[in-house]
Amino acid sequence: MSAQIFSIANQKGGTGKTTLSMNFAAGLAQRGKVLLIDADPQGSAGQWSSLASDDKPFPVSVISIGGNLAREAKRFASDYDYVVIDCPPTLETGVMQMAMQVSDKVLIPVLPSPVDLWASIRIIEAIEQVKIQNRGLQPYIVVNQLEPRSALSKAMKEALHEFDIPALGEGIRRRAAYRNAAVDGVSVFCMGKRGEAAADEINNIIEELL
Ligand SMILES: Nc1ncnc2c1ncn2[C@@H]1O[C@H](COP(=O)(O)OP(=O)(O)O)[C@@H](O)[C@H]1O
Ligand SMILES: [Mg+2]
Repeated sequence: MSAQIFSIANQKGGTGKTTLSMNFAAGLAQRGKVLLIDADPQGSAGQWSSLASDDKPFPVSVISIGGNLAREAKRFASDYDYVVIDCPPTLETGVMQMAMQVSDKVLIPVLPSPVDLWASIRIIEAIEQVKIQNRGLQPYIVVNQLEPRSALSKAMKEALHEFDIPALGEGIRRRAAYRNAAVDGVSVFCMGKRGEAAADEINNIIEELL
């Protein structure tokens, strides 16, 4: 058995990498055994899971790896069904590239404005480089923090079209549930009614990918 490996990456901070990593991993945990690798030296994913209470443990093993990510990810791949790598917000250290090198798919959360999308252009170039060796790598954009009730703007749609990387489903809306999940060290999947809409959109993303 070898896990399917997903990187969550963008060299910009604050686009929702950790939020997507944690909730995506928790959603995958309803389908198999999941390892989340926190490859960001800021350690947000590790902190998040450490906030979980004993009666609501986070359903995913979270480890942080700074060193040889590629070797470690491959070593763990035989023990899990899915591995999710929360990447650091930089291309300078090579960690993000290493994560993408061992991944089947890379999800790129972006904020819903063309300006933010264009700010992610460098990761697209990095993906092209990684693909020279990891030819099967499939990139996807996940538009995050969509305003409630407003659809993607025409400008954003046009910019997405130019990027030539598929955008997953309807994206992710800006919801208090995501913020609250981080505060309590849980995922939106165990927040009952309050997390239901968020859990549905994460599930849609998972179903589109698997
Ligand atoms: N869909 C969302 N709805 C509401 N808040 C969000 C959403 N996605 C991210 N956030 C918030 O935005 C901030 C940045 O998100 P985070 O996941 O830490 O980004 P990154 O890991 O890319 O730096 C956090 O405070 C997080 O709670
Ligand atoms: Mg983060």
